Amino acid sequence: MAESEKVIRRAMRAGHRPRSMVLAQNWRPSLDDLVADVQAAGAPVFTGPIDLIESITGFHVHRGAIAAMHRPELPPVAQVLENARRVVVLENIVDHTNVGAIFRSVAGIGADAVLVTPRCADPFYRRAVRVSMGTVFQVPWTRIDPWPGGMKQVQDAGFQVAALALGPGAVSLDEFAASAPEKVALVLGTEGDGLSRVTLEHADRAVTIPMAGGVDSLNVAAAAAVAMWALRV
Ligand SMILES: C[S@@+](CC[C@H](N)C(=O)[O-])C[C@H]1O[C@@H](n2cnc3c(N)ncnc32)[C@H](O)[C@@H]1O
Repeated sequence: MAESEKVIRRAMRAGHRPRSMVLAQNWRPSLDDLVADVQAAGAPVFTGPIDLIESITGFHVHRGAIAAMHRPELPPVAQVLENARRVVVLENIVDHTNVGAIFRSVAGIGADAVLVTPRCADPFYRRAVRVSMGTVFQVPWTRIDPWPGGMKQVQDAGFQVAALALGPGAVSLDEFAASAPEKVALVLGTEGDGLSRVTLEHADRAVTIPMAGGVDSLNVAAAAAVAMWALRV
């Protein structure tokens, strides 16, 4: 589901196909071109008072426009890794807000792609789409299954797998970034327990963002942004 004019436009620019669009009538006059594009793609456009629309959806429709998009077939992992140098792997991150925020940072900081493990929340879920500002439609991503079994494919594609983790044995992000390899896959762990033991065992490096102020860890989306920025190419 793509919510708001901006997100719908971003999805369509990235080549995604609408199934239908619902538009509050007060927004209709300023969106002639978007309506024409959606209709040209063969999708119906429904217009009505915002109260009626929200009584149908059951939630507040952000900026009066929402479109159902066709769910694309996800590309193979090899295709997503091709030509990439910075890849982010989301291991079982279950909160749609965190998933959306990480995609927004990936797009904004300029990392190349995202791999999501089988139990990770769906990046195309409405809340994730909205928090990502629609970047889930433009950032190359796919599911990597199995995981952590699939880590070997990432390593075989030339990536050094860096597990973002706390604890002893991890090199600091500053030190890692100072001589970062050409291709890095940053693996981020789940909100509660962090990365699995098997992932930590098989990763090439464990990398930590040194903490201060008696705080033990960052929110996973904040950690992703800090690490991507430090490793940007
Ligand atoms: C909220 S943390 C999970 C904390 C968990 N108790 C642990 O021990 O890993 C969620 C994820 O964010 C990343 N993260 C958060 N703070 C970090 C830090 N200071 N250094 C490296 N990674 C961090 C890690 O990938 C972690 O798995």
